[in-house]
Amino acid sequence: MKIVVSGTGYVGLVTGACLAEVGHSVTCVDINEEKVELMKKGVSPIYEPGLDEILLSNYKKGILNFTADFVQAYSDADVIFIGVGTPEREDGSANLEYLYAVAEQIAQNIKKDCLVVIKSTVPVGTNDYVEKYIRENLKNDVNVEVASNPEFLSQGTAIKDTLQASRIVIGVESKKSEELLKTIYERFNIPIVVTNRRSAEMIKYASNDFLALKISFINEIANVCELVGADIEDVTNGMSYDPRIGNKFLKAGIGYGGSCFPKDTKALHWLAEDNGYEIKTVKATIEVNENQKFRLFRKAKKRFNGFKNMKVAILGVTFKPGTDDLREAPSIPNVKALIEEGANVYVYDPIGINNFKTKVSGKINYSEDVQEVLKDADVAFIFTEWDTITSISLKEYRELMKTPVIFDGRNCYKLKDAEESGVEYYSIGRRDIV
Ligand code: UGA
Repeated sequence: MKIVVSGTGYVGLVTGACLAEVGHSVTCVDINEEKVELMKKGVSPIYEPGLDEILLSNYKKGILNFTADFVQAYSDADVIFIGVGTPEREDGSANLEYLYAVAEQIAQNIKKDCLVVIKSTVPVGTNDYVEKYIRENLKNDVNVEVASNPEFLSQGTAIKDTLQASRIVIGVESKKSEELLKTIYERFNIPIVVTNRRSAEMIKYASNDFLALKISFINEIANVCELVGADIEDVTNGMSYDPRIGNKFLKAGIGYGGSCFPKDTKALHWLAEDNGYEIKTVKATIEVNENQKFRLFRKAKKRFNGFKNMKVAILGVTFKPGTDDLREAPSIPNVKALIEEGANVYVYDPIGINNFKTKVSGKINYSEDVQEVLKDADVAFIFTEWDTITSISLKEYRELMKTPVIFDGRNCYKLKDAEESGVEYYSIGRRDIV
């Protein structure tokens, strides 16, 4: 069976690599020749731990291939997985132009019966429309079906999330498509959930939006904890023993970011509205998150009465550790606001600095040395819980900074340690150490 994967971002490339890892013959298509040459050398165009090794080993075995020649690749494919981006438009809806561009290429170039599998996160109904579109634009007399197979991987743990996924969801409208996808996935030995295409599309949005809702909920509980003298870490610990609640995605912080939760909450809100329904829980999830991003900024502004000419140390800029991705990272609006306030901003991040430079302009000092960033600083903000940040001892802050005042958006330190070390420490959902 010849499998082709279109799109070499997180979803496409990890899918291609993992399908090859379990022994399928896979060709990954990307129109960028330079990227193709790099991937052949085992260099992934995205930062994802463990991916380079899988690319190289399977390329050397001859079962994973990379090409920019989509005409040739699609012509004799049995199955084409689509993993292109579906970024948000200004109104919150999903932008499907990349998806339809691939659909057009498929319609023009397939020369045998083919199953097209959409892995990208798409609004409910898209699989139906893409199938209709391809069928109406076919150049050759072949049969095409479209199936939905949403992706549940997280950046930073993408390989494990794919090879050891909690479930594989397939949305199909025919027994033939179901059997073909089951044959492809049986090697993964993971529970397979079979449903229709629209339900599969909805499973993806509902899953991501539920996780985002959990985070916004716990962030609000944290905000109330601060007002009533409770401690969010103890509260979540006490909640998590109930198996109906669990301990996952209950970490309070500075708000969620990334390429998925912000986009998928807005897209579901838009989709519901487009169908005449206001989805209030998702609306609240979005609003709470927007507000949460500035919680520490507001507290710090009050504490210092503005930031004019202060040296502000920023520790961590990526939306979470283990990725160089800056999309929707809470650090971005915070740094912009600090610059507007006249602060001298010094940024540390182990791998996110290059991407950060493309997102925020202005006078910013960058360093991959935490000590340099903290030295003589008036205040430090923690936005990402990288190991290299959580391993800094509170004593170091006290010794290096001019005034050791820390605003920790990820609750990296114990209050007892902050108290003993003599720093001034503000975190999320816990009492201030002043
Ligand atoms: C998310 C989902 O977790 C994946 O299941 C999904 O497949 C993926 O989106 C996608 O749709 O492609 P990802 O965006 O990589 O994965 O990141 P997460 O690990 O889910 O974290 C998202 C944000 O939530 C981060 O900013 C993180 O710091 C924040 N978060 C997470 C919290 O603030 N608290 C938590 O308890 C967990």
